[in-house]
Amino acid sequence: MSDFGRPPDSPDFEPSIPADPFGAPAGRAAVLCGVGGWVPPRVVTNEELASRLDTTDEWITTRTGIQRRHAVEPGQATSDLAVEAGRRALRSAGGPAPDTVLLATTTPDRPCPATAPLIATRLGLREAAAFDVSAVCTGLIYALATAAGLIATGVSRRVLVIGADVYSSIVDPDDRTNAIIFGDGAGAVVLRAGNPDEPGALDHFDLGSDGASEELIMVAAGGSRQWAESRPPTRGEQHFAMRGKEVYRHAVTRIAASARATLAAAGWKPGDVDYFVPHQANVRILHSVADDLGIERSRCASHLVDVGNTGAASIPLALAHAHTEGALKPGHRVVLTGFGGGLTWGSCVLRWPDIGQGEDPR
Ligand code: COA
Repeated sequence: MSDFGRPPDSPDFEPSIPADPFGAPAGRAAVLCGVGGWVPPRVVTNEELASRLDTTDEWITTRTGIQRRHAVEPGQATSDLAVEAGRRALRSAGGPAPDTVLLATTTPDRPCPATAPLIATRLGLREAAAFDVSAVCTGLIYALATAAGLIATGVSRRVLVIGADVYSSIVDPDDRTNAIIFGDGAGAVVLRAGNPDEPGALDHFDLGSDGASEELIMVAAGGSRQWAESRPPTRGEQHFAMRGKEVYRHAVTRIAASARATLAAAGWKPGDVDYFVPHQANVRILHSVADDLGIERSRCASHLVDVGNTGAASIPLALAHAHTEGALKPGHRVVLTGFGGGLTWGSCVLRWPDIGQGEDPR
């Protein structure tokens, strides 16, 4: 008889899976040991957008803080960006090849199959476990938590976690509200098995979601819901849609609450935080959250000025940039917080490890 459906506290309950099926040592932590990022070379400035859309550099800068973003050339897809970022993270980490590759993305190369296996193969990681994680702009945090679980249980020993998105593929180029916000890019980290008390160990994850607000950020067409409705999609339904004002309000509240929960679990006060890396959505959101938490704005990553909102890539890209610029130093107490469609949110902390000089993502 299957154990499913039987309450675990019933007297004859015996789990069919041993408590420690992989012989994983207690306390095995996921330790960040490499970071890298890559954005496609083509820069799209606010002026360029203003030349073809009903907007201005001044409007975009004051409402979002974004001054430029990068965009793919024809022929470039998400895996192309992810492979570049992954290669840089692997170079930064050195050491043995990862046995697992996770890709956080909203814009996979195709609806099926997942994109991670292709990336693993292109990076020479033959037969690595590989799958995609879908949590929109929180994808990287969810993927880190997944990787940490795989390492803690001994399923994986070394994991390449990539966040990559080509929002150009889903944003309507004529939609002035969204076209100004998003950019294309990829960022990656390498995690190895280690001890919870060493620098780089990821800890105190806080994850959450609210599906009642799914319509706030959505690509309505292309899935089984549209198929179930038995009608062809409208042009708008095929593109990324966002209710900006409501998303703004949720983002400010959710990012602050999640960061606060993680800080409390870690026993850190806001003043202990050397570097705060919230999802790079809008500089007004970042500053408002930093002010709310009591973290100095100067300690809050604001890489979006140069790359826009790069979706699942934004947190690792901001880390790669800060690492290369020297803003992140070994021992720094770092908080990562994501927020995105779903709605989803999540956070974790780490002390920055000594991983040598990085490469500029550009
Ligand atoms: N240029 C000029 N005007 C624009 C514009 C643009 N690119 N985009 C919208 N507008 C106009 C609107 O049409 C509206 O005009 P109206 O008053 O005549 O109706 C006006 O500007 C205000 O629009 P509104 O949507 O209220 O602006 P806003 O201050 O909320 O800023 C966002 C819009 C999208 C920048 C803002 O809501 C935002 O950043 N939201 C969060 C987005 C986000 O972080 N998403 C990522 C989540 S993972």
